[in-house]
Amino acid sequence: MAASSIFSTVPQAPPVAVFKLTADFRADTDPRKVNLGVGAYRTDDSQPWVLPVVKKVEQKIANDHSLNHEYLPILGLPEFRSSSSRIALGEDSPAFKEDRVGGVQSLGGTGALRIGAEFLRRWYNGNNNTATPIYISAPSWENHNAVFLDAGFKDIRSYRYWDAAKRGLDLKGLLEDLENAPEHSIFVLHACAHNPTGTDPNQDEWKQIAEVMKKRFLFPFFDSAYQGFASGNLDKDAWAVRYFVSQGFELFCAQSFSKNFGLYNERVGNLTVVGKDSDNVSRVLSQMEKIVRTTWSNPPSQGARIVATTLTTPELFDEWRDNVKTMADRVLLMRAELKSRLEALNTPGTWKHIVEQIGMFSFTGLNPKQVEYLIKEKHIYLMASGRINMCGLTTKNLDYVAQSIYEAVTKIQRIYSPFEHANL
Ligand SMILES: Cc1ncc(COP(=O)(O)O)c(C=O)c1O
Repeated sequence: MAASSIFSTVPQAPPVAVFKLTADFRADTDPRKVNLGVGAYRTDDSQPWVLPVVKKVEQKIANDHSLNHEYLPILGLPEFRSSSSRIALGEDSPAFKEDRVGGVQSLGGTGALRIGAEFLRRWYNGNNNTATPIYISAPSWENHNAVFLDAGFKDIRSYRYWDAAKRGLDLKGLLEDLENAPEHSIFVLHACAHNPTGTDPNQDEWKQIAEVMKKRFLFPFFDSAYQGFASGNLDKDAWAVRYFVSQGFELFCAQSFSKNFGLYNERVGNLTVVGKDSDNVSRVLSQMEKIVRTTWSNPPSQGARIVATTLTTPELFDEWRDNVKTMADRVLLMRAELKSRLEALNTPGTWKHIVEQIGMFSFTGLNPKQVEYLIKEKHIYLMASGRINMCGLTTKNLDYVAQSIYEAVTKIQRIYSPFEHANL
């Protein structure tokens, strides 16, 4: 008799939408196909881009015979941790002068979020307080919910962010949700280039957000996955985080170098911790060390070496800044070109949000039926929420994509996506 498997009751989990979309795109043999779903930079030839500065530093590392493959410390490569925190907070941040910044090298931005969430569950607002509310923007990167759930938090809530009718920030709703949140709630804030809406608060709006958060004793957990991509300028894109630090907040900032270094598969990130003083930060880091030890034990070195060498060598840093600007500028160009084509075709609706939104993504307002039409009839792959990656556009496919969007919009009534289908 065949023994039944001990795993026979394990249910099949659904695929992760963005990875499934890429698999479907790869399997499609139509020569017109376009992938606007992927969350990574592409060149005008639709190819991944290894940043020239990264290639240079990889060579340097390969030729450096003093390096080896010994384990890194549990918290990571010291020069990586400090240079990453510096790029987030700014060289002259008072927090450095007062020696109250710590960093935890992590497996990408996701790892930084996960380690941060785990720490907060264990040690924030009491001890193992799984009832602390976690507020995530509506909509947001779908992994945010799952990361905090998996860290054990039970009360994950959403805060108003996107006003679908005006296709912009719902500042009033956001401020109300901040006002009404229980004290000590945790707010996950996108540092810049909000995913998926491409809409950030302006500086005045950030000031209002900070004011309410301070008054209500709310904890800011910044997610900084696109520094440099929003404006092309690293300092400008870090303005919100730096402003919160200047206002005396203790905070976390999960940094990802996946996008701005194109180091997606090297899994390189950093959790910057800003505390009231050095003693608090060192106790926090001692607990972080315990969490990392049982999670990945110690982090990988290649990505961290590339980033640290680049950030700490002035000529390489300048080159990196130029590389980031090259990517940001291509996105800006594609935004302008898509908008002008949609307008030239007299596509119903307004399209200025395409150029007003920033970062890698655009929230087109296409509804799930229109998205389905684009995938099935036009072989243009995008998320059901209507989010498109601007880097999927090229000078060669712009006309085809614009014409196809025109057809989708005119054939299928345009309604603004309500997000219940969003799975970004
Ligand atoms: C908002 C946001 N946070 C975090 C991440 C995670 O980045 P990483 O690939 O470095 O884990 C992403 C990646 O898409 C993202 O969009």
